[in-house]
Amino acid sequence: MKNLSETKFALSYINKYGSLMAQGNGYLGLRASHEEDYPGQVRGMYLAGVYNRPAGSESAELVNLPDIAGMQIELDGQLFSLQMGKIVEYERHLALGSGLLTRRIIWRDPRGRLFELNFERVVGKTRGTLIGSRVSIKSLNQSVRAVITTGIDGQQTNFGTQQLMEEKLHVAAGDFMVGHYETIESDRKIVIAAKVAPGGVITAKNRQIKSQVTFDLQPGQAAILEKIVMVSSDLDLETTNLENVGADRRLSQQKDSDVLAILESTALAKLADRDFDWLKREVEKDWAKFWVTGRVELEPKASTVNTDQLALDFASYHLEIMTPKNDPRMSVGAKGLTGEGYKGHVFWDTEIFILPYFLHHSPETAKNMLLYRYHHLQDAKEKAQQYGYSGALFPWESAFSGREETPEFAAINIRTGKRQRIASALAEHHIVADIAYAVWGYFQATRDQIFMEKYGRELLRETAEFWLSRAVWQDGHYQILDVIGPDEYTEHIDNNAYTNYLAVFNVEQAIRFNQDATDFCQRGADFLANLYLPVAGSDGIIPQDDTFLTKPQIDLEKYKQTQGKQGILLDYSRAEVIDMQILKQADLVMLFYLLPHLFPADIVAQNLSFYEERTIHDSSLSKAIHAIVACRSGDVDTAYRFFQEACLIDLGTDPHSSDDGIHAASTGAIWLAAVFGFAGVDTTDVRLHFTPRLPETWQKMSFHFWWQNEKLQVELKQGMIKLSKGSTTELEIEINGKLLTLTDREIEERI
Ligand code: BGC
Repeated sequence: MKNLSETKFALSYINKYGSLMAQGNGYLGLRASHEEDYPGQVRGMYLAGVYNRPAGSESAELVNLPDIAGMQIELDGQLFSLQMGKIVEYERHLALGSGLLTRRIIWRDPRGRLFELNFERVVGKTRGTLIGSRVSIKSLNQSVRAVITTGIDGQQTNFGTQQLMEEKLHVAAGDFMVGHYETIESDRKIVIAAKVAPGGVITAKNRQIKSQVTFDLQPGQAAILEKIVMVSSDLDLETTNLENVGADRRLSQQKDSDVLAILESTALAKLADRDFDWLKREVEKDWAKFWVTGRVELEPKASTVNTDQLALDFASYHLEIMTPKNDPRMSVGAKGLTGEGYKGHVFWDTEIFILPYFLHHSPETAKNMLLYRYHHLQDAKEKAQQYGYSGALFPWESAFSGREETPEFAAINIRTGKRQRIASALAEHHIVADIAYAVWGYFQATRDQIFMEKYGRELLRETAEFWLSRAVWQDGHYQILDVIGPDEYTEHIDNNAYTNYLAVFNVEQAIRFNQDATDFCQRGADFLANLYLPVAGSDGIIPQDDTFLTKPQIDLEKYKQTQGKQGILLDYSRAEVIDMQILKQADLVMLFYLLPHLFPADIVAQNLSFYEERTIHDSSLSKAIHAIVACRSGDVDTAYRFFQEACLIDLGTDPHSSDDGIHAASTGAIWLAAVFGFAGVDTTDVRLHFTPRLPETWQKMSFHFWWQNEKLQVELKQGMIKLSKGSTTELEIEINGKLLTLTDREIEERI
């Protein structure tokens, strides 16, 4: 498996690679910051669920924890920094296959002395595990005194906002450095314990505890320092039994005042006798296990240079490290655990873009994401009530508490001094139907009746109740007024097609699973019979909303050149953008993707091209979805172009696009484009369908896909599909519209 590599040191890329090469396990994320400091370098370590609401702020923020990755290296008093001297050789790799981050440098210091430095870093793949790093410094041509200083640095902030109080710094069990912390507002307790080998002189000052180790080196001799660390919070102590969530709607809160002491003794026990090599071996084994089924594997045509495989592996790697597996108190933020973008908040990105990967690889993890919503159903009902609606209105952005976390205002416009109100919390209500869609999707893929009985049907009914109360009777129909659809460049519009059709789907599914609720079913049927649904006009175009087609169109070429940068907002005010035919991201096209059988193929193709012309793709949630719909429309070349562009959202050459974290939804969307686009998977029927259309440069594509308790292995070649499954139970599928009953463990079909 290929590495993600950086072959040149460039300060301008430091934060991009800090995000791209981050390591983690779904509960903890560690940015790939360099050991040594650089101006502007953002260090970061985060724990899922550990948020804090700073004084005066309406939004909780994912807390940037004390730094454990930093190391100060002095060579005869000369500070090691690549900004000085000469870089003779430089390479950094994240081995996606084994989770290991390495950096190798040959450096000539300003005094002409030559050094070889090797850094390794690894993060355990399971919850509550260790983080290890090793540095080796070899003096190549002189004797030298090397001094390495490293420990736990509590001076870390969220871009200047202090989120933690330091309770205690101390040395325990001989040579362990330990820091006790509490988040200022949310009262989370965190313990970090670290040990270096060989041991050094430990000091504590200014919220830092550090060990200083000195090596006297002869030419050719290496100083080797290992550090292992354990980070945990009180969230690790509480029960996370999924089934308790339904039973009492409340996960037990450990209130013990000795929580920090318990965390410390657990950490010290875990660290005892562990070293870097042991951890590295464990992590390698865990990643190897993951990759057996976690990957889409491509065989490109001979002689083509193909970066698609790297993008797909990058996507699987990040999906895996961003997602908590079995703790419904936490979900996935828009940047995973790789940075502070969007303050670590959870959006519709999770259910629509990230969840499907897990649905078809690890359904229990997908279930956990839905339980996060179920766990906060009461908060969603309260939000609905607050605005005069019934049912559940889930927050547009959420964190640990389940309350609405969307900031009220965007950043101040430095020219006008005005602040732009963010309307999403008030109007981007499609998230309600998105969650319902994911509940239905989970049932489609798993047939998990117990989940539906305990949680799913209630989630469907409460979300449907919201739509029943949200619609108003006007001009002889129900209408859904004043919303924002997925396209956030069009605000406060009536009858957004995406929202209305998804609301219908939500209510249909709620009725299906709540047949015993007679009154609800009657009101639901009335809603379904009378909700206004935008349809194609005589020109074949479906209006995105009631006024979209009446707005002026402008040439977007200039802005499409710099997609993702929101450049249009530098030339036009937001109010002006809203009043033009400009889409930030897939909207109607998103509807085509989620419900592919609503409209005839010619209407889909026509609307895809109409709306694409008007879409800047300023959101990372857009291109891959266009790729899927283009592929399903038979335009594989366009689909492949969109797919490749989607792969560049994080992996492209733009130095700053991922500074504050990778685009979590985009990684999910890359996988979706491969599987739901090119492999032609359709899960919306009772049967699984395949209508494969591989890009010309892909000779072969294979992947694993869980479907209704079967672990399928899919292999596609141009003109051929092979399916293997783990059992001989009958499974009906359709391949290019042909019904097949799979009883054997393996079938091969010409396509
Ligand atoms: C997009 C939203 C998305 C959010 C978080 C915004 O730019 O328009 O659709 O949910 O980013 O990724």
